[in-house]
Amino acid sequence: MKKSFLSFLFAVAAFQLRAEDGHQLWLRPHATVPVTVVAPASRSVLLATAKQELQQGWQGNAGATVTLTLKKDKAIRYDGYRISPSGVQAVTERGLLYGVFELIRCQQTGQAAQAGVSNPSYEYRLLNHWDNPDGSVERGYAGQSIFWRKDSSFVTTSRDKTLWQEYARANASVGINGAVVNNVNASPRILSAEYLARVKAIADVLRPYGVKTFLAVKFSSPVLLGGLKTADPLDPAVVKWWQAKAKEIYQQIPDFGGFLVKASSEGQPGPQDYGRTHADGANMLADAVRPYGGLVMWRAFVYSPSDKDRAKQAYNEFVPLDGKFRDNVIIQVKNGPVDFQPREPFSPLFGAMKKTSVMPEFQITQEYLGHSIDLAFLSTMWEECLGSDTYQAGPGSTVARVTDGSVYPQKHTAMAGVANTGLDRNWTGQDFGQANWYAFGRLAWNNQLKSAQIADEWLKQTFAGAADQQATASAADWNANFLAPVTQMMLDSREAVVNYSMPLGLHHIMSATHDHYGPGPWWAPPKMRADWTPPYYHQADAQGVGFNRTTTGSNAVSQYHEPLASQLNDPATCPDEYLLWFHHLPWDFKMKSGNTLWNELCAHYDKGVHQVRQFQQTWDQTRPYVDAERFAAVQNKLRAQSGAAVLWKDACLLYFQQFSKLPIPASVEPPM
Ligand code: GCU
Repeated sequence: MKKSFLSFLFAVAAFQLRAEDGHQLWLRPHATVPVTVVAPASRSVLLATAKQELQQGWQGNAGATVTLTLKKDKAIRYDGYRISPSGVQAVTERGLLYGVFELIRCQQTGQAAQAGVSNPSYEYRLLNHWDNPDGSVERGYAGQSIFWRKDSSFVTTSRDKTLWQEYARANASVGINGAVVNNVNASPRILSAEYLARVKAIADVLRPYGVKTFLAVKFSSPVLLGGLKTADPLDPAVVKWWQAKAKEIYQQIPDFGGFLVKASSEGQPGPQDYGRTHADGANMLADAVRPYGGLVMWRAFVYSPSDKDRAKQAYNEFVPLDGKFRDNVIIQVKNGPVDFQPREPFSPLFGAMKKTSVMPEFQITQEYLGHSIDLAFLSTMWEECLGSDTYQAGPGSTVARVTDGSVYPQKHTAMAGVANTGLDRNWTGQDFGQANWYAFGRLAWNNQLKSAQIADEWLKQTFAGAADQQATASAADWNANFLAPVTQMMLDSREAVVNYSMPLGLHHIMSATHDHYGPGPWWAPPKMRADWTPPYYHQADAQGVGFNRTTTGSNAVSQYHEPLASQLNDPATCPDEYLLWFHHLPWDFKMKSGNTLWNELCAHYDKGVHQVRQFQQTWDQTRPYVDAERFAAVQNKLRAQSGAAVLWKDACLLYFQQFSKLPIPASVEPPM
């Protein structure tokens, strides 16, 4: 009794500590008014959460009555909901919770809640945490893991619980309903009894917010953890081992989501080690979790040093397996064919696998877009990918539509984002990193949403009322002097990163020695795997620059459907943004703008630098509207980013100039 009271006090203190820090994401406290909630009698924790959120967040008419109804409705899919003047109706309790968050979001952002049905684009909307059992986070830039600690004593503290609860609540508020809580480069230990106990503790805290827990598993776990001689997916002992493991997990976590697998990829073990296919491996695991309704997300991130064009391998390995996967397997495909670069064309696997469920994987953490230093609102990048037309089933077969079940009948649909969360007080390192977490959830709910709307919503929820001066600032003043310029800054920010780091289709020229932060087009130590070195990708020489992926080169263009393949194959019709992705072109190649390639490259680098300087000016003018802490934090980050942009420009232009032997022009405008 005494102990639980103490831990209660501790939980309150921990919550206040974090709350006082002013880092409550987009869920900041507001003046609320009383509301009467009518809901079905139920002991469900999810329903209790929905009621509580409504009562604690209501800013509509004082004394209003809002009814939460669970009722069959053919128009509602998955965890969708219907909003009507009387309240929220859904077919699942999650749906009610999401409807409640939608009502509150509308009240807070000054929009009228739209009466009618809102269905999620994807059944599963998941964060992938690349968190290691020792508490470190691969490609994490916001401190240590929120789930794992180095000392892993496996005691779940009230601080852990508070954090996980805040995390789950934030996810629920944007419709994220699943979390893979460990790294895809998975430790076999995660499946040991002691770690599973902690996974259960996590699942128990995430559940009331409708967030399912998943695990990434190492394919060789039967050997490394189970002591078997093989992990061959067709070996009966291996099959049995996984079945027993699945049973053990589901006994503790009955609503466990399933497995995410990185196999036969970047040195990770996999079915190919035993002469088996991805389908053999995925199906064996899918059969193990099938009795419990579990899912297997099998990643298609595969490439090897022997391949002359890494961008082609996933398509080559997976397309022949189309139709061979169990229906509880989803192939998880990174947005681009290489690796989360600032700009890539979409992966040709989207739409090419017509009899297999395929899901997009985006990277929320900014591995290649400036870590948690640079301000880059990634929503525009994801919007660009989702809106790309694959032509696989005729015009309009966008990446969004070929993955959300609109074009092909997919048994399951999903979208994953590699999380950017950590123990940092503001969760994501850079305050604007929170916007990427938010945007991912919103786009996974509605893959047709526009980034401008997402930025607008996020800013209103995150910054309105954020300074004392705000009390005196009128809404019109705030809209004109904060909302409008900062929205524009966010919308321009990803393109700025592309401009100062990898414009015109350049890719993978970042520094390897600084964990992918900053430039490194020259990096090619002797004996290093060529496909890990930038020169493999930019191919700069006296003749020109760029990777020839046309029919005269690696022929990666042929993996795209017509008319795209022909369009990309011809430098005259290939969009400028992808030019050097697909073509090796002379330095004096005449661009659509009339500039030479060299001059236009210089102009893009220069523009990127100027854009960041403009962001600094924009932010400096927001001082009256932002609390001092966040104002200074973002200002400092922008200063660092400005320096980084100059470094990128100078380093890349000086490096490429060795080959082009051309002067850097005093001023050339890149086309807008
Ligand atoms: C990138 C990243 C790795 C990660 C890998 C993956 O290569 O640098 O850290 O493990 O992607 O997605 O599996």
